[in-house]
Amino acid sequence: MKRTVKDLVNLEGKVVILRVDFNVPLDDGGKILDTTRIVQSLPTIKYLIEQKAKVVLISHLGRPEGFEIRKSLWPIALILIKALPTSVHFMNKVYGDEVKKRIQDIGNGEVLLLENIRFYKEEIECDMEFAKKIASLGDYFVNDAFGVAHRKHATTYGLARLMPNAIGLLMEKEVGALRGAVDDPKHPFVFIIGGGKVQGKINLILKLLNSADTVIIGGAMAYTFLVASGVAVGESKVYDENVAYARDILDIAKEKGKKILLPIDHVCIKQSAKRKKAFVSEEMVDDMIAFDIGPKTRELFKEEIKGAKQILWNGPLGKYENPAFARGTLEIAKAIAESEAYSIVGGGDSVSVVKMAKVENKINLLSTGGGATLKFIEQGSLPCIDVIQDKILFKR
Ligand code: ADP
Ligand code: 3PG
Ligand code: MG
Repeated sequence: MKRTVKDLVNLEGKVVILRVDFNVPLDDGGKILDTTRIVQSLPTIKYLIEQKAKVVLISHLGRPEGFEIRKSLWPIALILIKALPTSVHFMNKVYGDEVKKRIQDIGNGEVLLLENIRFYKEEIECDMEFAKKIASLGDYFVNDAFGVAHRKHATTYGLARLMPNAIGLLMEKEVGALRGAVDDPKHPFVFIIGGGKVQGKINLILKLLNSADTVIIGGAMAYTFLVASGVAVGESKVYDENVAYARDILDIAKEKGKKILLPIDHVCIKQSAKRKKAFVSEEMVDDMIAFDIGPKTRELFKEEIKGAKQILWNGPLGKYENPAFARGTLEIAKAIAESEAYSIVGGGDSVSVVKMAKVENKINLLSTGGGATLKFIEQGSLPCIDVIQDKILFKR
């Protein structure tokens, strides 16, 4: 059992560095599409406000390369101002004397949001000198960023090694809710994977083949697998360096008697066409690019979903942000909601889609984690949780 924020006592006037995952889905113009991750972070923030701590919030947003105005956390500060019963401040820096001075100046029970931590490359490098500069700002470190707890970064992992620490209420809730799926998976267990993070998630497919009976692959992930199985994909994005690995996964699945379903038709565009109108095709040739699963694939996937007793879904099955390519994902979301299976949907974009389909009340468990949720189900824990101190050590 990990120490939680509620085990920290005498917080009045103490500076608590709270790592959250405000990595919300954005449209092409940078507009926030869904605020679930912010809303889910509020209980811990509010608890710390009630304890009269000074709350320093740190988060990443997207995968920026240096400063990118569209990935600023400033719009999130505006959401927090409305959602919290206290003053919310914002700084476009994450360490240094100016930040220290600002923390001194804010009142107890107030909140200071720092700028996107990934504007600094030291974050993902888990640079401990960088972490030390941030640790020097506060008294405690609380990690509530379940969605990124699979990544050993400076403010998700490094800070826990430098400061007295605890997990937050969202982290505690996520772990508790997912425990059943780890300890007692129901079969047939259908794992549905899509989305855009092919390189980051392809290895999880192999790992989840241990417990899942069927793996449904859609989204951008599908095209690397289709090439691996000898199917032409036109100009759809394929991760060449992962094709051999995808082939191994297909072979291993066959050996283990597990089923892997890939799209059999697609909603695509022709890159050379003057008007890039979406159309359905079973064959992907020339300069065709697929952005959604087609009608036959929808039926194939839905049939499999009907027979499931447990479903784990991460990653939209198409470029759902564009209505022309949203249908596959929305129909699959509805099919999961209608099935009798215990359903777990994780990921910033996936949860956003479930809400778009208006079926959030029919999913058993909506998790804020995407890759984190898959890794947790596969391993039963995550490095940024393991690094937090056990409760017992702090018994008085
Ligand atoms: P989650 O946030 O649920 O973990 P990801 O971040 O892995 O999901 O993936 C979401 C992204 O994947 C979306 O931006 C979506 O547009 C993209 N995507 C899904 N399918 C395709 C596709 N066929 N082509 C291009 N992008 C896709
Ligand atoms: C997520 O959206 O899955 C988390 O916020 C982690 O983001 P990342 O995959 O860019 O590390
Ligand atoms: Mg995402």
